Amino acid sequence: MSENHKIEVLFQQCYQHEPDVVCHAPARVNIIGDHTDYNDGFVFPAAIDCGTTIAASKREDQLVKVYSHDFGQSSTEFVLNQFSFDTEHMWCNYIKGSVQALMEKYPNLRGANIVVTGNVAQGAGLSSSASFEMAILKTFTSLYQLDLDGVTAAQMGQQAENEYVGCNCGIMDQLISAMGKKDHAMLLDCRDLSFEDAPIDEGLSLLVINSNVKRGLVDSEYNLRREQCEQVADHFNCKALRDVTLSQLIAEKDKLSEVLFRRAKHVITENERTVAALAAFKASNMPALSQLMAESHQSLRDDFEVTTKEMDGLVDIVSEQIGNQGGVRMTGGGFGGCVVVIMPKDLVDTVIEQVNIQYPQRFGLVADIYICHASQGAFRHTEVN
Ligand code: GLA
Repeated sequence: MSENHKIEVLFQQCYQHEPDVVCHAPARVNIIGDHTDYNDGFVFPAAIDCGTTIAASKREDQLVKVYSHDFGQSSTEFVLNQFSFDTEHMWCNYIKGSVQALMEKYPNLRGANIVVTGNVAQGAGLSSSASFEMAILKTFTSLYQLDLDGVTAAQMGQQAENEYVGCNCGIMDQLISAMGKKDHAMLLDCRDLSFEDAPIDEGLSLLVINSNVKRGLVDSEYNLRREQCEQVADHFNCKALRDVTLSQLIAEKDKLSEVLFRRAKHVITENERTVAALAAFKASNMPALSQLMAESHQSLRDDFEVTTKEMDGLVDIVSEQIGNQGGVRMTGGGFGGCVVVIMPKDLVDTVIEQVNIQYPQRFGLVADIYICHASQGAFRHTEVN
């Protein structure tokens, strides 16, 4: 049974009628450029073939009824314009936050009957929450034919996280979930939100390996990193760390705490690596990409301090197998979660075999491995050639 058919059956069981729309928004993996987005910097993610799928029908009133199949199989409902933060169904706050942002532009929005399903590993750093926000916004856009574009939808999703859920994330996850292109990665400039699609060579595979170490303290540590970056930008009287060069930073080293210096050094060098990675990617220069991804991981480990020993171990195991024929690094916010590997297809079996042998030996844990395909974003129109 296809995913769409499954959710249609579920919808029929819940509401005794057929849905008007079925919408999907993908999760993402970031190839390089982490903790740069909220510094107005560069990121290089791809949307992947898992995500959130929503079936919905219109309503005449302002009620939103939701059945969530994959967050503990629970249902809840709320009235547009009269809702508050939900401490019982935490997942529902992604809907409420997104709808609140949407209603600033469309105050007369009507309600909906909704069923949500998702197949993104949660807490793995693959942006299950951004895919949820984009799926909700796409659902209301389709139900009521709103003229909402993908970039605005991404900004609304980010607003939901920042102002409603309480995570001060950047825009990368929402933007790639909205605007990713099938079979492509995207170099995104998080300052002006311009982006360039970069085709992923057919001979390459994109692997995501989940360390299965649940992320802890994610929001508080994440928000702290962001504050530290902003402190350094303030020190330089700049809008964001994007505007500070490495030599400027080094010249001020004595005036900054040792921790703040390292945090800023990561961001500034990561921006340089991300721009260089696009060039290496386009030139199919795998040794260069491999090197940049290795440096990115080290910087996130030593200067930004967001990796775990399990993620570091996975990177070691994989890089022993792929050498400079591919790249591997942690991906996303960190503090647990996944590593990403980009490598020639013919190395995939060996990598999977070695991870399955060595990771349990070293850490007593089993990793989940996904071979991903770069997918289309929820708001990206299919281009007709
Ligand atoms: C999380 C956030 C993103 C980004 C990454 C780190 O995924 O949601 O905005 O900051 O961490 O690159």
